[in-house]
Amino acid sequence: MTSQIIPVDPFDFIIFGGTGDLAERKLLPALYQRQIAGQFSEPTRIIGASRSTLSDDEFRDFARKALTEHVKQEERKDDEIETFVARLSYIPIDAKTGEGFEKLKDAIGDSKSIRAYYLAVAPALFGDIATNLEKHGLTGGDVRIVVEKPIGRSLATAHALNDAIGSVFDEHQIFRIDHYLGKETVQNLMALRFANALYEPLWNSTHIDHVQITVAETVGLEDRVSYYDKAGALRDMVQNHMLQLLCLVAMEPPSSMDADAVRDEKLKILRSLKRVNGNEAPKETVRGQYKAGASAGGAVKGYAEELGTESDTETFVAIKAEIGNWRWAGVPFYLRTGKRLAERVSEIVIQFKPVPHSIFDDSAGVITANQLVIRLQPDEGVKQWIMIKDPGPGGMRLRQIPLDMSFAESFEVRNPDAYERLIMDVIRGNQTLFMRRDEVEAAWSWIDPILASWQENRHAAQGYTAGTWGPSASIALIERDGRTWHESM
Ligand code: BG6
Repeated sequence: MTSQIIPVDPFDFIIFGGTGDLAERKLLPALYQRQIAGQFSEPTRIIGASRSTLSDDEFRDFARKALTEHVKQEERKDDEIETFVARLSYIPIDAKTGEGFEKLKDAIGDSKSIRAYYLAVAPALFGDIATNLEKHGLTGGDVRIVVEKPIGRSLATAHALNDAIGSVFDEHQIFRIDHYLGKETVQNLMALRFANALYEPLWNSTHIDHVQITVAETVGLEDRVSYYDKAGALRDMVQNHMLQLLCLVAMEPPSSMDADAVRDEKLKILRSLKRVNGNEAPKETVRGQYKAGASAGGAVKGYAEELGTESDTETFVAIKAEIGNWRWAGVPFYLRTGKRLAERVSEIVIQFKPVPHSIFDDSAGVITANQLVIRLQPDEGVKQWIMIKDPGPGGMRLRQIPLDMSFAESFEVRNPDAYERLIMDVIRGNQTLFMRRDEVEAAWSWIDPILASWQENRHAAQGYTAGTWGPSASIALIERDGRTWHESM
């Protein structure tokens, strides 16, 4: 099965933080992949900008190295790589002093191409960059700006950042990336819900017992000391990725895939989340921090050892969330995410209610309630667990089996990285998979009281051994309700 690639219009792509980690690991490889897929029209240019003093050639070498390290060997072709690096140029820019912006203006010249500024820099620089772009006359024409998380560390700081960018760019020009929305399987969630008549009638509290969303990682701190220790899992993963997944599961059917139609529905969910504050937070949330243990077959250090100092930052969080609306009243959404867990797996489990009455004898065995497991990564796929009669003689014996759709087995297509899809959407001007200002702020309005309560109640992070599923309190959180965490497919 092949999919048709529709080229986008020519564009100038300016990466602030052009020599940084994100550019190296994600942006340059993603742009290269889109070039080899035939999605570029000419002239398409990529300009790196950062404080380092680099020549164009040195930036091209940086890109060659990035592709060598982050693109599979069979996808690296010498002629394509040379075509790609020929698009690159580099301008040293100091976002604070404004030095270099005139050079950027010269480089852009009278280009009529779509222009995207990608801010792969610390959020503290968002405002300076936006202001300098305006001051140097670089905001006219068909221009977009892309910003990465963290968009703030609280509602107030998110507000200030949004104001700083919003004072220069209109909302329709601002693309706030949540790379989870670019993942194939996350988009597939929308296809599953809204391109099938099957699920929608059951998608509510009458038929669904609860929902679990797990984003488990095996990696640890990964050299992100200065950022991560100030953030922690709640800000790093729940405020954005986990809540976005929750929204896609819980939202009402939007009238179309139009950006605002989808984002309006997500916003309603964020605003319907019941506040977990004061006394509830210690009961409904679990904080954890990994201690020394084993991961991927080897011994690993604990978080504090990696960090080099004691810290109370959480590397694991579990939350029992509830949505106060008609569809979801009484249906808990159990969220858990953490680093150095037993397995790298992201999945959404929809647990249906049991049949109301069994017509079978005890000898038939137990009727297990249906479960839909949407596996986001790795081994993307969907499993719908159903009951059948165990084949063969022996009378009526019931058995649970999965209707199993593994994407890798079913489709022979390359699974593009989330950034490939999202960057092309920026160029197309399609904001459906990007967060609107009010969504980001509504998410912080839910997160802030949890953070406040943790602080007030001195809700310390509980230790868990690296390579396990987190603190035992996380198991207790769900088992208290007579339910258990799903243990992978
Ligand atoms: C990022 C977080 O947004 O997502 C990281 O900052 C995390 O801490 C990463 O590791 C996970 O992304 P993925 O695509 O590997 O699941």
